[in-house]
Amino acid sequence: MNVIFMGPPGAGKGTQAERIVSEFGIPHISTGDAFRSAMSQGTPLGVEAKKFVDQGLLVPDEITIGIVRDRLAHDDCKRGFLLDGFPRTISQAEALDEILSASGRGIDHVINLTVDRGLLLARLTGRRICKSCGSTYHVLFNQPKAEGVCDKCGGSLYQRSDDTEEKVGTRLDEYVSKTAPLLAFYSEQGKLREVDGEQEIEAVTGQIDSLLRGQA
Ligand code: AP5
Ligand code: MG
Ligand code: ZN
Repeated sequence: MNVIFMGPPGAGKGTQAERIVSEFGIPHISTGDAFRSAMSQGTPLGVEAKKFVDQGLLVPDEITIGIVRDRLAHDDCKRGFLLDGFPRTISQAEALDEILSASGRGIDHVINLTVDRGLLLARLTGRRICKSCGSTYHVLFNQPKAEGVCDKCGGSLYQRSDDTEEKVGTRLDEYVSKTAPLLAFYSEQGKLREVDGEQEIEAVTGQIDSLLRGQA
């Protein structure tokens, strides 16, 4: 099963991806996570990506496509994968189609999480992430049992550098101008499925699960 999660920043892509991949046993491929990991290690990719990520701008297509091309060539993607945050431009989507068709594969489902713009700012500025395992929390909507500590691994929680009010504004503008046009691209291919991302986390997972199992 080859799946794409789409939706604006803060829609819940990462939160839902964590849950869905553990259920279906497929790898979670997040380009945002890949950039953050390279940035924290200070690799050449990280240094380049930081120039864009820290401003809330999209990283150039040629860099981003290269990362996904390499990752999709790994053996663990043979049984399927979940792409979170890629593709984000029409050129990325076209490149993805080429990469997959060259190995006789294709996308099965595109899940679009819809959340009103007004809610996204609160979600993003209150988000906290585990330094050790990457699990996502929220200071109001998805609290850890002990403040600042990950329930799963005991790691400490931090705030992303692009989760400030100013950066969120830029990220939303990038989404509207460059990523939203992809919805029509996948809708024309008959692959797009909309899920109301404003429901409780559990309810959203339930709905995605049914769609992926072909029961909705
Ligand atoms: P990326 O890391 O992909 O960030 P994003 O798309 O902005 O999305 P987020 O991760 O912020 O949101 P999410 O939808 O995963 O929400 P989450 O589940 O965490 O990209 C970061 C940057 O990397 C980009 O700006 C760009 O620079 C670069 N980049 C990445 N991919 C790229 C690409 N393809 N091309 C070019 N550049 C690229 O949830 C948010 C919060 O809400 C959490 O606190 C969570 O607990 C809470 N929450 C989630 N669901 C619910 C719910 N149902 N109810 C209440 N609260 C909820
Ligand atoms: Mg995310
Ligand atoms: Zn953790």
